Amino acid sequence: MAGGYISNETIDAVLNTTDIITTVGEYTKLERRGGNDWWGCCPFHGEKTASFHVDGDKRFYHCFGCHKGGNVISFIMEMEKLSYADAIESLAKKSGIPVKYQNGYNPEQNRSKIDETEKFIELYERTASMFHYFLMETPQGQKALEYVTKRGLTKETIEKFKLGYAPADRKWLFKFLRGKNFSAEFLGKSGLFSQKYPEYSFFSDRLMFPIFNRRGQVVAFGGRVIPPADESQRKYLNSGDLPQFKKRETLFGFSFAKNAIREKKSIIFCEGNMDVIAYHQCGLDYAVATLGTALTEDHIKMISGFVAGGTVYLSFDSDGAGQEATWKAIKLCREHDLTVKIIRLKGGKDPAEIMLNFGAENLTAQVKNAILDSDYLIFRLGEKYPMDTPEGKAKAALEFFQYVDALQSDIQKESCLEQLCQAFNLKPEAVKRDFNNRSQARERAYIRQNNNQTEQGTQIKLDAELRGLIAVTADLNQYEVLRSKLTEQDFTNPAARRLYRVLEECFAENVFTIRDILNRCDDENLVQFITGSISSGVYQSEKVSVIVADTVNYIKRNKLDAQRNKLLQRIKEYTVVTQEDQNQLNALLAEKFELDKQVQSLGKK
Ligand code: UTP
Ligand code: MN
Repeated sequence: MAGGYISNETIDAVLNTTDIITTVGEYTKLERRGGNDWWGCCPFHGEKTASFHVDGDKRFYHCFGCHKGGNVISFIMEMEKLSYADAIESLAKKSGIPVKYQNGYNPEQNRSKIDETEKFIELYERTASMFHYFLMETPQGQKALEYVTKRGLTKETIEKFKLGYAPADRKWLFKFLRGKNFSAEFLGKSGLFSQKYPEYSFFSDRLMFPIFNRRGQVVAFGGRVIPPADESQRKYLNSGDLPQFKKRETLFGFSFAKNAIREKKSIIFCEGNMDVIAYHQCGLDYAVATLGTALTEDHIKMISGFVAGGTVYLSFDSDGAGQEATWKAIKLCREHDLTVKIIRLKGGKDPAEIMLNFGAENLTAQVKNAILDSDYLIFRLGEKYPMDTPEGKAKAALEFFQYVDALQSDIQKESCLEQLCQAFNLKPEAVKRDFNNRSQARERAYIRQNNNQTEQGTQIKLDAELRGLIAVTADLNQYEVLRSKLTEQDFTNPAARRLYRVLEECFAENVFTIRDILNRCDDENLVQFITGSISSGVYQSEKVSVIVADTVNYIKRNKLDAQRNKLLQRIKEYTVVTQEDQNQLNALLAEKFELDKQVQSLGKK
């Protein structure tokens, strides 16, 4: 993590100015538990109980579940998938800190990714505003405006989602943007134009859905054909991945929904942009959709910090593809310990149609009536397999076992297996036997795989050396005692030696804070190890001096032991011939006597 081309001055300013509680709070809900200690559900992995700790004074975070930890910079790196330098630049920008670079670095020549990303965002924001203007204010956009109005969207909704119309004239956008001083080269990379004909707009004569990032900035578009249109037209065209936009990590509607998701601890996943918009218009403002892809791990990570302990509602179409998507999403959500309910819409093919035909209350009631995933699956299995035959029963059970596997608690597993038995009149002993036989084989494979993995990684050893250094990191006031007694050479544990070097550097440069120390540490494992140990609370100030004394003692003792062993070896090998020899041996024995006395004074090991 160290260095980069950004000046230390800027890094210090970022670390000193950014409030880690506020920053982390944008991604997961934190609650104060005494002092400046904050807890919440980890935004990096799905969980129901808060094991994510943020220390507001020391300004670091640590998750006791997935063991991720670090300072506000590493948090943003991980969360926003940015490089170290980009994370600092992004935080600096947010706090209004001017970014200074190290000597010889010219940011204009080596323009970082983040600058370009922001230029793209500016471009997309402008384009979205123009499309919106076309929809609302021009005769060209009228056909599209009539279409969305006919589908029941209000003016308020259209404005909130900034829907638009891309003009039929494919050359219009290029001319407009060139007029706004965007270079042809930049526009060529923007994803807004045809690859083959760089002056031709990718979207034309379409209803435009801006896609917003989590901060509510336009980063991409989806464009829908406006009926009536000929069959050869693809219904939706979507932007491809861009520096500011990764389809697999983006959810349509998330910026509008995130507060509601957090407050209601609920989220509705639906299939399409129109579905999301209909739900929001009906007051169900925690709906989001993937962008024509299946639900991914990345999506779940994005939302799990907000919805942890709450419920995921799935609102996919009732066709084959929708059922398949539902099944996959159930497993994925359950693996992340989220409760899942299925909305089975009646009276229309999608939420927009229900809103139009029956109104908001009807749609709201249907969400309230959503059923638990286990009930849904059992119902589906009954439809899918002939449950009056042994084969049908066995196949249904095997399919249901996959769901049970995804559940995160044994009690849940047990009760779902019971539910299966009751629904299809199966013998519980037989079902459990089948389930266990199968899972044991799977578990064995899993353990084999995991063992191989840990053998490869380098483990950090927590011995007295490292313990002492972590203790002084927790209470930096006591560092001087330690450094007055030990030097770098005294440390034999590689992790301890690394940490000591960082401590010495920060001490010498007078940037002696835990933020700086964690920031200088270029070993991510070590950073996680340190934040984890400190968060566990064993390094309370009053204990630190005892731990430091133990460490000094331990190291001195080891050193003396080594000296003494060397000396003993020499004494043993000594053969006395002359009086001179005898004198030298006496000197060695006297030296050993001194060493023994020192060892004794250090007390027991
Ligand atoms: P739908 O066909 O369900 O569309 O596709 P929709 O958004 O509900 O629109 P209406 O109700 O027909 O107006 C669901 C989503 O799948 C993606 C889009 O993101 C769409 O919102 N999709 C669909 C594509 O990417 N390409 C396509 O050709 C079709
Ligand atoms: Mn639809």
